[in-house]
Amino acid sequence: MSNTKDIAKAIQLLQKESVVAIPTETVYGLAGNIYSEKAIRSIFELKNRPMYNPLIVHLKSYTELEKVAVNITDKARLLAETFWPGPLTLVLKKQNNISDLITAGKDTVAVRVPNHPVALELLNQLDFPLAAPSANPFGSISPTTAAHVSNYFDSSLVHVLDGGACSQGIESTIVGFEEDQAVLYRAGATPIADIEALVGTLKVFTKDDVAPIAPGMLSKHYAPSTSTIFTEDVEKTLATITRKRVGVVSFCKEYNHPAIHYQKKLSSNGSLEEAANRLYATLHEMDAQPIDVIIVEKVPNEGIGVAINDKLLRASAV
Ligand code: TXA
Ligand code: MG
Repeated sequence: MSNTKDIAKAIQLLQKESVVAIPTETVYGLAGNIYSEKAIRSIFELKNRPMYNPLIVHLKSYTELEKVAVNITDKARLLAETFWPGPLTLVLKKQNNISDLITAGKDTVAVRVPNHPVALELLNQLDFPLAAPSANPFGSISPTTAAHVSNYFDSSLVHVLDGGACSQGIESTIVGFEEDQAVLYRAGATPIADIEALVGTLKVFTKDDVAPIAPGMLSKHYAPSTSTIFTEDVEKTLATITRKRVGVVSFCKEYNHPAIHYQKKLSSNGSLEEAANRLYATLHEMDAQPIDVIIVEKVPNEGIGVAINDKLLRASAV
């Protein structure tokens, strides 16, 4: 098995309860039939993912939502109708037939409709939705190209459906509900302000509060294997580093310092969308360099920049 653009082959494998890495607009996912215990167990095993960390269910369309969720409120419907297909995941009360493996024993299920032509074509040809976490080993950087996925997993174990580079480049925003109050579980590719414009101010948890609710949100996540420092002031941080080969990931500026061995700008023209799109590919590239430390620069904390900073902070957590 290898990387292909062959959707028919992916369908065949998924129907046989195998796991296939699929493209989405956010990041690549490691997908399996939500009704197959075998497929779901393989996803956890391949990722080395703890069983307490629930998976996102991917639907072909909003009209399928009742198959997996119940008690869908008006606010949830409004968000789904507005942003699907797209990078917003909703956490809703689950249908009885959604397995505890997928939801990690919770009575809620996370669900979204991906906005990627290949993912949608695949879902349209299957008669079951797909559970899919990001297609990376637990704790490492999410994949935004088919090559990232095949570098992580043995080709005999994971078939990769190549749909090109992901257009968004960071994960979906995750929103749940407490009664009628919308709650942010994870900052992501759908800007918070766009969601708040429809359902009012989101309740935001501190890092420690959210951990038991959205268990995947451990502080260290999306991390390069090279040690990483998150800073608002690259020059000041450079000045504190001695006898080390440094890689710098800046927002849009070029820095000059003798310790810098490798440098990448996320967006030369200061576009946050472009920065999000290049974030993980840049971290993958940095991680492959012979450097001792990576300095990552905080980006403007607005729009999708909130999610970028969240990922950078987690990449640098120890
Ligand atoms: O963009 C994305 O969301 C990508 C693509 C593949 O769709 N998927 C993704 O999945 O990022 P993953 O597994 O890396 O992150 C899913 C997170 C979990 O870490 C967990 O925190 C949250 O979704 N989650 C899933 N089910 C939940 C539930 N019932 N309640 C609260 N949080 C949940
Ligand atoms: Mg992930």
